[in-house]
Amino acid sequence: MASDFDLKGALATYAKGQLFDPYPLYETLRLREEPFWSDGLGMWLIHGFADVEEGLSDPRLQNDRILGYERALTPENRVKFKALNEHLSHWLGFEDPPVHTQSRGYLKEYISGRLAIRMKPIIEKQIQEILTKAQSHSEIDLITDFAYPLPLAIICDLLGIESGREEEFKALADAIGIYPGNVGPILNEVAPAAQEALIKMEAFFDEMVAKRLAEPKDDLITRLGQLASEGLLSHQEMVSLLTFVFLAGFGTTLNLIANGMMLLFTHPAEKEKLIAHPELIGSAVEEFLRFESPIQIVARLVREDFEWHGKQLRAGDYVGLNAGAANRDEAIFPDANVFYIAREPNRHIAFGRAAHFCLGAPLARVEAQVAIDQFFKKFPRAEMISPTPDWLPIISFRHLGTLRVKLNYEN
Ligand code: HEM
Repeated sequence: MASDFDLKGALATYAKGQLFDPYPLYETLRLREEPFWSDGLGMWLIHGFADVEEGLSDPRLQNDRILGYERALTPENRVKFKALNEHLSHWLGFEDPPVHTQSRGYLKEYISGRLAIRMKPIIEKQIQEILTKAQSHSEIDLITDFAYPLPLAIICDLLGIESGREEEFKALADAIGIYPGNVGPILNEVAPAAQEALIKMEAFFDEMVAKRLAEPKDDLITRLGQLASEGLLSHQEMVSLLTFVFLAGFGTTLNLIANGMMLLFTHPAEKEKLIAHPELIGSAVEEFLRFESPIQIVARLVREDFEWHGKQLRAGDYVGLNAGAANRDEAIFPDANVFYIAREPNRHIAFGRAAHFCLGAPLARVEAQVAIDQFFKKFPRAEMISPTPDWLPIISFRHLGTLRVKLNYEN
């Protein structure tokens, strides 16, 4: 690392979400080998692979972060938006054992490796439709025309959202998702729209569940609707889990596909290697996940005061376990800053670890493998037009705004 690295400047830009190449900062902080308190973000940041892995398994770091949301609201708003905080408290990603173990068990019965195998033909059919639609254009935006429609169709199919109502459902979920996506006093401003969307979401699911109980299908709404009607889940828990699965599985998979495409276009020798050796698609997807991890920071709340690697953490402090930084740790990945689609081994941490390990990992992998493999089979001469990666100003996710390509397609 160059000694003239401007740490203060990088931290200030990072806290505004505008440090589009965060990796030199991650490395500088990782080399300190201790938790780093960020005033800008109001949280401890952890960057080393071993520490992030340890943090994901440490029961003193809890997923229940509702306290942080309540604390940020004014006393009046705490009462007004009680339903919103209760909704959030039933998201799987906000639960701890023993409640988490039970809710995860309900989802795991449905969202499994078997589901990914069962959905593969549906994914293949969807991607063919998407590519056929694209071929009539000389240029497309890979985000809106390719990386967006596949995960939207698949996650809505898995949930059982009625065909034609996907965008309506997504708009409600996004409006709710703005609330947990923020921290601090701004929560007072975003809460009203989120709570309004939550009321509409409850009505939306009530309608869908009533239909599925009358006519069951092989989807998650039917499964959770049945559990609720048997009294095993409350109505509120059912709505929370369904909303959470959408928000956990849609944008992340979109970003995996988009980031993977961008990485191939910006590393043409690796792209040509994949086109010549399509059997490398499995390891290529793992390298996309490692090199530009869709979820950069996994948040936790400190349960009790304790000292961790030389720093005193206090109950109620936020901790950001930076998977994006851990995945560039030289101690685990030789030449960590080199993008290499045949990298082996590649035990990245992009899907988390331990009790909260991503349930949708097998499905996300299949979606990205099929989409990218089929894209280059159809458009092997496609070229990127966007000059540089258009990263959006978001700290916790690696999310591109646009990615324009020329397809150079000939029948
Ligand atoms: C590339 C795509 C994806 C990435 C990078 C990703 C990443 C993650 C990560 C890092 C976690 C752990 C969070 C924590 O420890 O608090 C997680 C949890 C979760 N993911 Fe994914 N995910 C992806 C796709 C999906 C998909 C497609 C689904 C659903 C079909 C899904 C469903 C879930 C669920 C339900 C959890 C919560 C597990 C728990 O708290 O027990 N994810 N994901």
